[in-house]
Amino acid sequence: MSYDVAIIGAGPGGYVCAIRCGQLGLRTVLIEAAELGGVCLNWGCVPTKALYAATKLLRRAATAEEVGIAFAPPTIDRPKLASWKDGVVDRLTTGIGALLERSGVEVVRARGRLDGPGRIALSSGDPIEADRIVLATGSRPIEIPGFAFAEDVVWSSDDALALSEIPDRLVVIGGGVIGLELATIYRRLGSAVTVVELLPEILSGLDLDRRTIVTLKRALAEQGIALKTGTKAEGFDPGESGATVRLDDGENLEADRILLAVGRRPNSGDLGLETAGVETDERGFVRVDSQLRTTADNIYAIGDLVPGPMLAHKASAEGISLADAFDGTPVALDETPIPQAIFTDPEIASVGLSEAAAKASGPAILIGRFPYAALGKALGMREAEGFFQVVAADDHRILGAQIVGAEASDLISEAAIAVRNGLTLEAVTETVHPHPTLPEGFKEACENALGRAIHTANR
Ligand code: NAI
Repeated sequence: MSYDVAIIGAGPGGYVCAIRCGQLGLRTVLIEAAELGGVCLNWGCVPTKALYAATKLLRRAATAEEVGIAFAPPTIDRPKLASWKDGVVDRLTTGIGALLERSGVEVVRARGRLDGPGRIALSSGDPIEADRIVLATGSRPIEIPGFAFAEDVVWSSDDALALSEIPDRLVVIGGGVIGLELATIYRRLGSAVTVVELLPEILSGLDLDRRTIVTLKRALAEQGIALKTGTKAEGFDPGESGATVRLDDGENLEADRILLAVGRRPNSGDLGLETAGVETDERGFVRVDSQLRTTADNIYAIGDLVPGPMLAHKASAEGISLADAFDGTPVALDETPIPQAIFTDPEIASVGLSEAAAKASGPAILIGRFPYAALGKALGMREAEGFFQVVAADDHRILGAQIVGAEASDLISEAAIAVRNGLTLEAVTETVHPHPTLPEGFKEACENALGRAIHTANR
């Protein structure tokens, strides 16, 4: 069969690219060996957020007496919680199937592999030929020496999200995004959680300001999540019902389960890249130029397979941009900042430059902040922890924002629009925001950068 576009991998990069290609009238085939939606929908973003939201109820209920509402101690029906989470996933993956069909995309359930330029061999069925091929095969978790994934002791994030049990003692190796998000969920479910991080600081791969990290660490401690930074997990000794984790400082940690969350690597092996001349870098990422072209003609790559942040929304943006480029109307992605949202408690979200990066890039930088504690809406929600921060250039153009606090993941989009479009602080402050709402905090942070916030002291 011959197509205009063939896409390998139906994650948030591949399926989104396919739908847009279909909308544009391109004859499109999407090849997927596992589930539609990829890691994000099936074993990543979506189940994590479902469990994050469900378990937040436990924390809210535990402190509801403050407002005069008392609940009996909660019971957790783990199988029911797991099947509810699976239901959310099913609903979304079924929806994607319907959207692909409506866009005229053909879906082939098989493993695809390049077989020379313009040709894809399938694990079942006849090969496919296409004028353009998009590689969108994503990434998978890394194992480290001393720790190999074994469902009964060493969990990957997939195992943790299966929610097959709630361990009494969970040791999380890796203080990155996945480790901290799952530590938050399991702590709320009642596990005693210790996070072991090799580097001196958590979340060190991200451009987050000191204040953001300090706020999060204080909150993790309040939740009872133990943190050991600057510590290497060297291996473990299996025990009767779990394991003893050996650390390089000589300490041993008893664990019923170990969650290994030390990063992900691109799924670039066994893709037949060499048959078509597609090159990878030393870490296995597919080399692409600013227009997502690989080193082989008419073969493109997007998402976790290429260098850059491993984020679903980045993959989707690349997929759409590529499809539009096939249609002759590309969107320049290098001008588009990629926001980040981390589902810890409190949430952390950021876009554009941090304070530190902005100061390093130029001396005349304006900073504005506003605390959640000064927002009527936040106080009423009992969500007074955290702050809004905005960074602007001396001509008042907004360069970046960080939000630490309730619903930060939802609130960052206003800042993302500002950074993407070069809006000024005044563009935000002169926009009337409804009261009482959380986005007022971002507006007040912009006012504060101009030295005229109403509800906090101006520096
Ligand atoms: P990560 O790279 O964010 O963090 C892994 C951490 O493990 C690092 O801090 C590293 O220093 C540490 N580490 C490595 N070896 C160690 C050892 N022997 N002992 C102790 N610590 C060790 O990787 P993570 O959390 O697995 O996430 C993978 C990717 O998925 C990231 O790019 C992340 O941004 C992305 N992701 C993003 C989400 C979001 O934005 N909400 C959610 C989930 C994943």
